[in-house]
Amino acid sequence: MQFPNNFLWGGAIAANQTEGAYVEGGKGLASVDLIPSGPTRRAVMLGELPSYEPLENQTYPSHEAIDFYHRYKEDIALFAEMGFKALRLSISWARIFPKGDELEPNEEGLQFYDDVFDELLKHGIEPVVTMAHFDVPVHLIQSYGSWRNRKMVTFFERYAETILNRYHHKVRYWMTFNEINMLFHLPYMGAGLVFQEGENKRYIQYQAAHHQLVASAAAVKIGHTINPDLQIGCMLAAAMTYPYTCNPDDVEKAMERDRENFFFIDVQARGAYPGYALRQLKEAGIEIVMEPGDRELLREHTVDYIGFSYYSSRCISTDPDVLNKMTAGNVFPTVKNPYLQQSEWGWTIDPKGLRLTANQLYDRYQLPLFIVENGLGAFDQVETDGQIHDDYRISYLKDHIREMHEAIQDGVELIGYTSWGCIDLVSASTGEYAKRYGYIYVDYHDDGSGTMERRKKESFDWYKQVIASNGANVKYEASLK
Ligand code: BG6
Repeated sequence: MQFPNNFLWGGAIAANQTEGAYVEGGKGLASVDLIPSGPTRRAVMLGELPSYEPLENQTYPSHEAIDFYHRYKEDIALFAEMGFKALRLSISWARIFPKGDELEPNEEGLQFYDDVFDELLKHGIEPVVTMAHFDVPVHLIQSYGSWRNRKMVTFFERYAETILNRYHHKVRYWMTFNEINMLFHLPYMGAGLVFQEGENKRYIQYQAAHHQLVASAAAVKIGHTINPDLQIGCMLAAAMTYPYTCNPDDVEKAMERDRENFFFIDVQARGAYPGYALRQLKEAGIEIVMEPGDRELLREHTVDYIGFSYYSSRCISTDPDVLNKMTAGNVFPTVKNPYLQQSEWGWTIDPKGLRLTANQLYDRYQLPLFIVENGLGAFDQVETDGQIHDDYRISYLKDHIREMHEAIQDGVELIGYTSWGCIDLVSASTGEYAKRYGYIYVDYHDDGSGTMERRKKESFDWYKQVIASNGANVKYEASLK
């Protein structure tokens, strides 16, 4: 079992789920800083419960997260010990432009990421940077309505130009928007959208999507102008949708579900709105407002690679009885697939789905792929001797790495694999600390207790071996079923 020699093994994190220090270093409030843990979280993420400042009776996990802001050296040293070739992380927009519409950036914020990138490079770890991972400066939401407003394109261009100019010597791999399709599923989390009673949500979402797509193409253009060597990708919450049966209605439904997500990266990778989207928009009576030059920009500045997250496959049916048997799956509810198991959070576990999804994406775009998120969120138990035996996580990852190798054998061009939450962090969907993904345990809990101490899990040494052997050790190890 051989992976390409320069394969980028590593892990992935995001600013809002790790850094904490939410108003330190001149940082402004970001959308995620107002997403509480607890029962109102979902309504806020959906854009149905506006709030523009933290409330006293709420807990906001992003405020402390895992304190990466102060502990990044220690954490990066642990990543280096595992032999990481790459770390995917995001820049917090509100650290660079605290309000979002300033003309000058916040030097302290810029310096922080300089320090982080230098630390990574010192250890031979390549930074892979997402420009926007679920965060928008709150001022842009409050004063402009966030991505529903065309002005966001200008603000984002300024932000992108600032960071691309500053870091292009240190960062080669970039992504514009994390899981850009999340805009349709969690509009506040994905795009800072808040809705008023009676508004046409679908229209606002499409208009906001157009603005993000234009901003993404503009960032690609700026990046390539600054440094033609930069690799700038898109990022999709991916997963193939299976029809529950071979009934053509189910198959059609599965195709439609997939296209709902492909819509975004079809534009980013192929440079134009796809025919099926034009038809849907027309039938829904939605007319996206475009400016002169938008179509050319989208056409001429497509992405260099497709970044994607994969956790589970999806399944859909047109039969109302089957639709009663749903399960979770990131934020994509899906019909329970009778052939597959689910995680403790109800997410379907389907390693083969990763191979299928990678093939589906490669067949469609013929662009290099980068798996920038994959992993198992699980409860971990610290034994009395301090050890953490996360063999279930090793099993999940091993099975996915094998299928990833199969995809490479199929001819899929794969740049790398950065598993999600390589160090425990705050869950995006639930806001919990208890949902852990890491090779490194962080002693912090949902009730606010804990020391933030870092501790290696069993998977730490296992992943170290995976990287050291360039994936070869996975071939000989049995799966835990
Ligand atoms: C992706 C996001 O949706 O899935 C991450 O890009 C997120 O930010 C990850 O953390 C896992 O989801 P969750 O809800 O388990 O944290």
